Amino acid sequence: MLTTIRPRSEGDFWLAQAGGISPAMLFSPTRVRETWRSLQAALPGVTLYYAVKSNPYTSLLTTLVDEGACFDVASAPEIQALLPLGVPTQRMIHTHPIKTITDLEASIELGVTSFVVDNLDELWKIAPYRNDITVMLRLAFVAPDAPVDLSRKFGAQPDDAMNILQIAQQMGITIDGLCFHVGSQAQSANTHRLALLKTVEIAQEAADLGIANIERIDMGGGFPANYSNKPVDFEAFCAPIREAMASVPSHIRLMAEPGRGISAPSMTLVARIIGRSKRQDDTWWYYMDDGVYGAQSGRIFDHIDYPMTIFTEESGTPGRAVFAGPTCDSIDRFGDTELLPELSIGDVIVIHEIGAYSIATACNFNGVAPPVIIDLEDDNNVVRLFA
Ligand SMILES: Cc1ncc(COP(=O)(O)O)c(C=O)c1O
Repeated sequence: MLTTIRPRSEGDFWLAQAGGISPAMLFSPTRVRETWRSLQAALPGVTLYYAVKSNPYTSLLTTLVDEGACFDVASAPEIQALLPLGVPTQRMIHTHPIKTITDLEASIELGVTSFVVDNLDELWKIAPYRNDITVMLRLAFVAPDAPVDLSRKFGAQPDDAMNILQIAQQMGITIDGLCFHVGSQAQSANTHRLALLKTVEIAQEAADLGIANIERIDMGGGFPANYSNKPVDFEAFCAPIREAMASVPSHIRLMAEPGRGISAPSMTLVARIIGRSKRQDDTWWYYMDDGVYGAQSGRIFDHIDYPMTIFTEESGTPGRAVFAGPTCDSIDRFGDTELLPELSIGDVIVIHEIGAYSIATACNFNGVAPPVIIDLEDDNNVVRLFA
């Protein structure tokens, strides 16, 4: 656990940012703009579609609308969240490989025309709408260095691509794109590079066989957060992708769907200790007002160890401690640590870079409300502060 201990009095600064409310998520539009621009600069000529699923908070979406972003949606409700913000459906792609008929129909009705398939059954599902939509075929490539693997659940094997493309052609379905997602929080872009090279090869083979005219390749997400509160050097991270981009023929447009890399650094959680007890093995249990049913589900779902700053008056002998959330569920615990000073009720805990897959999954389990979100002023960069 990346944990820093600071004097309790300094915690009041963070509580003040949150208007005295805890738990609260501080949202920084500045941070969104910075990460968006730096990823865009690292991928020249690539159209970025922000993955709404990673954090659909309206102010975040609005900030990206101002940046001229396009959007990756996974459902009709995500489309409906964007429409009032003035995003035309031409700037949205629906990327869920397995859709319900109801969602497919609603999404088409709302005006989205770009969809994804990764198997033959899904081709049958979209067949009735083939005249209104174009389709990307999702292929599976696994990044060994990404803790969140998406290539088991989704994606056709590259060896099956020709077969699916050929059947789509026979069914009159236009597959004009290939896409992949190497897994979230990839530690390098090496798999992006290999996958891009392979999809270019597949596009060429499909053209040679006359079974598909691939005009776009979508590199998905997997652009990481640092979880150390230093901005990711996207220029360096994307170097292997830029290298592979040199092999992409000029008639193929490139796209990507970043989620975590953009949303993670945009939010900071301000929480407090609401209870404590020394339990078995002489271990202190510290209960926070936010837990895995609130903003911290990524600890379980994505195995993320968020950097955290604890504001406390150091006292007593450092000892074993466990943190827990405010609900009654035994799984709502995290952060076992060996040498923590004794903490007190009211101590402030600030968790950094917690904007991705956090508030998006938070629920009201046990009647405990998720953290409130507080919009920081546009040029307020306190989320950068890392004690
Ligand atoms: C289809 C698709 N695109 C993009 C993303 C965003 O990925 P990341 O947050 O790793 O950038 C996801 C995440 O699950 C996804 O499923």
